[in-house]
Amino acid sequence: MKIYHYETISSTNAEAKRMILNGARDGVFLAKQQTAGRGRLGRSFFSENGIFMSMIVPPDKISFDPGFLTSAAAVAVCRAITEKGFSVGIKWVNDLLLDGKKICGILTEAVSLGAETLAYVVGIGVNVGETAFPADIRDIAAALPLDEKEKNDLVFRILLHLESAFTESKDSLLIYLKERSTVLGKKIRYYGAQEGEGVALGLDANGGLVVMTEENEEITLTGGEISVRTK
Ligand code: BTN
Repeated sequence: MKIYHYETISSTNAEAKRMILNGARDGVFLAKQQTAGRGRLGRSFFSENGIFMSMIVPPDKISFDPGFLTSAAAVAVCRAITEKGFSVGIKWVNDLLLDGKKICGILTEAVSLGAETLAYVVGIGVNVGETAFPADIRDIAAALPLDEKEKNDLVFRILLHLESAFTESKDSLLIYLKERSTVLGKKIRYYGAQEGEGVALGLDANGGLVVMTEENEEITLTGGEISVRTK
């Protein structure tokens, strides 16, 4: 697989999507910094110091349905970071936390032409070596303290784990997701298409978050955002 390296780029996801439209069906886009990093739900992703990478994933490369890609990528990155000696958890559905603070976000996007999905882009941002987060995220973001050599080793491990996770069974990925979840059993607030409060009970077969609402109704969240309640 070809790996494209950049010191600084606007967004590796944007570049991967551009390349897909130009015919690319594989490749990894890797940057040390992004000037217009994109997050979920139309947000920006602060990208000054870290690992900012996007992988092109053609539909026939994955053994599960594409809605599960973000969860599979979360497993892969969590395994890679764990191998570096950090105890990280997975906050449904796309964040990795170290001591309760976000160190990684994942954004999966599809590139389609008419009804045909050409390929998916799995974008991963890991904060590494960042010491000066902007005021609005200072209390909720953290970075892995790795030097350049260790950072490159982490990139290598993430790529290896991504490759194997894409063909791993959903069942074994789900076991890992449950083991590493920072939200199961906790009181949460949920936002998006559905909004409210409840207790996160489990994950369904597609990685959806099963919640018992305050109204005693069991629902399954497939998108949107959650936060763990502290009171
Ligand atoms: C989120 O936390 O909402 C998802 C953040 C995803 C950030 C990564 S960094 C590499 C890739 N390029 C982007 O512009 N975004 C993703």
